[in-house]
Amino acid sequence: MIDRILSVLFLRLKMAKNEAETGRLSLVFMFLFFSSCSCTDNEFELLLSIKSSMNDPLQSLSNWNLSLPFCQWKGIACDNSSHVAKIELSGKNLSGKIPESIFHLPYIETIDLSSNQLSGEIPLNFSSCLSLRYLNLSNNNFTGPLPKGSNSQLQVLDLSNNMLLGKIPEEIGLFSGLEYLDLGGNVLMGIIPKSLSNITGLQFLTLASNQLIGEIPRELGMLKSLKWIYLGYNNLSGGIPIDIGELTSLNHLDLVNNNLTGEIPSSLGKLTNLQYLFLYLNKLTGPIPRSIFSLKNLISLDLSDNFLSGEIPELLSQLQNLEILHLFSNNFTGKIPNAITSLPHLQVLQLWSNKFSGEIPKDLGKQNNLTVLDLSTNNLTENPRKRLWIRPAF
Ligand SMILES: *[C@@H]1O[C@H](CO)[C@@H](O)[C@H](O)[C@H]1NC(C)=O
Ligand SMILES: *[C@@H]1O[C@H](CO)[C@@H](O)[C@H](O)[C@H]1NC(C)=O
Ligand SMILES: *[C@@H]1O[C@H](CO)[C@@H](O)[C@H](O)[C@H]1NC(C)=O
Ligand SMILES: *[C@@H]1O[C@H](CO)[C@@H](O)[C@H](O)[C@H]1NC(C)=O
Ligand SMILES: *[C@@H]1O[C@H](CO)[C@@H](O)[C@H](O)[C@H]1NC(C)=O
Ligand SMILES: *[C@@H]1O[C@H](CO)[C@@H](O)[C@H](O)[C@H]1NC(C)=O
Ligand SMILES: *[C@@H]1O[C@H](CO)[C@@H](O)[C@H](O)[C@H]1NC(C)=O
Ligand SMILES: *[C@@H]1O[C@H](CO)[C@@H](O)[C@H](O)[C@H]1NC(C)=O
Ligand SMILES: *[C@@H]1O[C@H](CO)[C@@H](O)[C@H](O)[C@H]1NC(C)=O
Ligand SMILES: *[C@@H]1O[C@H](CO)[C@@H](O)[C@H](O)[C@H]1NC(C)=O
Ligand SMILES: *[C@@H]1O[C@H](CO)[C@@H](O)[C@H](O)[C@H]1NC(C)=O
Ligand SMILES: *[C@@H]1O[C@H](CO)[C@@H](O)[C@H](O)[C@H]1NC(C)=O
Repeated sequence: MIDRILSVLFLRLKMAKNEAETGRLSLVFMFLFFSSCSCTDNEFELLLSIKSSMNDPLQSLSNWNLSLPFCQWKGIACDNSSHVAKIELSGKNLSGKIPESIFHLPYIETIDLSSNQLSGEIPLNFSSCLSLRYLNLSNNNFTGPLPKGSNSQLQVLDLSNNMLLGKIPEEIGLFSGLEYLDLGGNVLMGIIPKSLSNITGLQFLTLASNQLIGEIPRELGMLKSLKWIYLGYNNLSGGIPIDIGELTSLNHLDLVNNNLTGEIPSSLGKLTNLQYLFLYLNKLTGPIPRSIFSLKNLISLDLSDNFLSGEIPELLSQLQNLEILHLFSNNFTGKIPNAITSLPHLQVLQLWSNKFSGEIPKDLGKQNNLTVLDLSTNNLTENPRKRLWIRPAF
């Protein structure tokens, strides 16, 4: 856009007939040039300024010098017009700060500086870096607030595992092109903004391991493309929104270690693609809805450390792909269903600290490769046939 304005100006300069007009246009031109220099700066100079602001103990940037064209520098990839399109310097032990200039590269699409030791604030105004599609600054030591601005072109934003502080702004909804958003492992506070529901193509959402409070917005149920939700290790309260049941592409649902209350909504039974359901370490009550036992693709079900009650129905036999079942530290009653012996892939079964009673199913472990089994602290009577196989304690 600026390029186009500049070339139009050049044309008019060439065509200018008298000195007066040329002078006036030159002034306009110079004003434009200086006010937009962040977009037209020399890429070579910008790259050298990036190099000079970072410590590079492994000499990863040693060939960033005049002896080579910058398109051949390590970690740089250019587009087919020889403009810098990618900077990929993950895991190079780079420290120091990243200069704002990295975001002024006019054609930059991908920046990956993940897994370094970079610190300070992220000097980014998203609104002035519209070419960017992928930004990965995860696993560094960045502090301060989330970067400012908005950008509807950005597809991947990974700022996880830093020390970013403060609220997630309502304006996050303006990143309407995001497919992947990971803000996990920071010190973010406040509520989850409802405006996230604006990001309709979002597939991966992680806000885990922060200090978020308030309820899970029911508006998340509008994000029909979501495959992975990780909101664990926060301080979220209230119930699990019924609307989560609308997310039929969901593969992982992880809301662990929060302060969630109420019953597990039976709408979760509509998540037919779900493979991992993790709700442990909350304050959930009531029975497991029967609909959960129709989630035929479940591989791992962990509802441990809640206040769940009721019996486990024989319907459990429908979960033929189940490998891990954790229901420990709840208030379940009744018998351990016989169905449990017919789950071919079951490897881990932890039912300890409940109120299960009756006999342990006698074929447990016969038809599968059970490797971890803990049924302790229940009210089970030993199966007399099994007893034959139990070695005396002394
Ligand atoms: C410049 O880069 C070349 C590799 O292309 C390297 O051999 C040389 O040592 C570098 N020069 C300086 C001054 O770093
Ligand atoms: C440059 O790449 C773009 C896509 O990245 C492509 O559409 C275009 O045809 C290419 N131009 C040339 C000259 O190769
Ligand atoms: C990276 O830096 C840290 C300290 O800053 C150091 O302990 C570590 O050995 C370095 N790693 C490599 C591969 O040089
Ligand atoms: C970001 O980088 C980390 C570490 O290099 C990597 O594990 C992660 O998958 C990357 N994130 C995305 C979205 O590509
Ligand atoms: C990262 O931040 C932590 C906490 O402030 C600090 O202890 C650590 O030394 C920092 N690491 C680097 C490489 O700056
Ligand atoms: C961010 O950039 C946009 C567009 O360049 C500008 O309008 C806005 O004032 C900037 N915001 C800040 C906080 O610098
Ligand atoms: C949703 O996105 C549109 C288009 O990007 C934007 O105009 C609107 O303000 C956004 N709404 C919210 C709540 O972020
Ligand atoms: C849940 O809330 C209680 C107080 O209401 C608090 O003590 C506890 O730390 C919270 N749990 C989590 C995981 O934040
Ligand atoms: C969690 O939030 C509750 C209020 O909902 C508050 O009382 C409690 O202190 C918080 N706990 C932590 C660990 O932040
Ligand atoms: C477990 O259920 C019993 C009644 O069967 C009830 O008295 C008790 O409070 C419940 N405990 C928990 C932790 O929910
Ligand atoms: C148990 O494991 C063995 C060896 O890993 C495998 O051959 C067998 O098919 C497994 N059985 C079941 C029921 O998964
Ligand atoms: C344990 O089970 C027996 C019957 O199997 C029942 O009579 C008893 O009340 C149960 N105890 C508890 C604490 O639930």
